[in-house]
Amino acid sequence: MSFACESLLKKIYPKHNVEIIDPLTLDLGEIFKPEFAYSRKQVPADLKQLADKIAEADGYVMVSPEYNHSMSPALAHLLNHFGSSLFSYKPSAIVTYSAGQWGGARAAVSMRTFLSELGCLPVSAMIHIPNAAKVFNDEGKAHSEEAQKEWDSYMNRTMAQLVWWAEGAKQQRENLDPNSLIEAFQRDPSQRNAPK
Ligand SMILES: Cc1cc2nc3c(=O)[nH]c(=O)nc-3n(C[C@H](O)[C@H](O)[C@H](O)COP(=O)(O)O)c2cc1C
Repeated sequence: MSFACESLLKKIYPKHNVEIIDPLTLDLGEIFKPEFAYSRKQVPADLKQLADKIAEADGYVMVSPEYNHSMSPALAHLLNHFGSSLFSYKPSAIVTYSAGQWGGARAAVSMRTFLSELGCLPVSAMIHIPNAAKVFNDEGKAHSEEAQKEWDSYMNRTMAQLVWWAEGAKQQRENLDPNSLIEAFQRDPSQRNAPK
């Protein structure tokens, strides 16, 4: 695909310089390999342990700083290691923070899409923390008892929604296994396609 773009640009805009930067030719640390790409006996211990935890959990609180109006690349990278089957049919809550005044609200919008695709649908209430470094100390405590009460009350709106959905979804998963209704896509991504 890169070569196709390169040759088109070179053909139509011959006066411009075009260069392909291939991340795989650079030393950026280890190459990404998701948990589900390993043969079952060779999954690295940390990935296996986390996959088991994700599978066991009934809900998720996804905490991210805002980086360039998007979610943390570190969090996206971590989540990209795991298939949606581990997260599906469970709710999530979005918590964002930033140095600026919007508390990561723009990152939160893109997190909704990301988490929905993983199958852990985010609850409607979200938590955004502006000026994060001034709001909580390193132990996660607000600067006064009064401020702590206000933050607890604000944050609990989201947590209460998460717990309600988590308990409800757990009951329903026990009542009816969703995988018995919906076939997993095991052959080809085209299995998702709408009929022609
Ligand atoms: C690469 C980069 C991009 C950032 N982009 C934003 C941004 O778009 N909006 C914002 O409010 N803050 C932005 N920040 C500030 C971070 O949200 C803020 O420093 C936050 O506390 C970082 O959290 P962390 O130390 O846990 O990574 C950015 C910081 C970095 C390093």
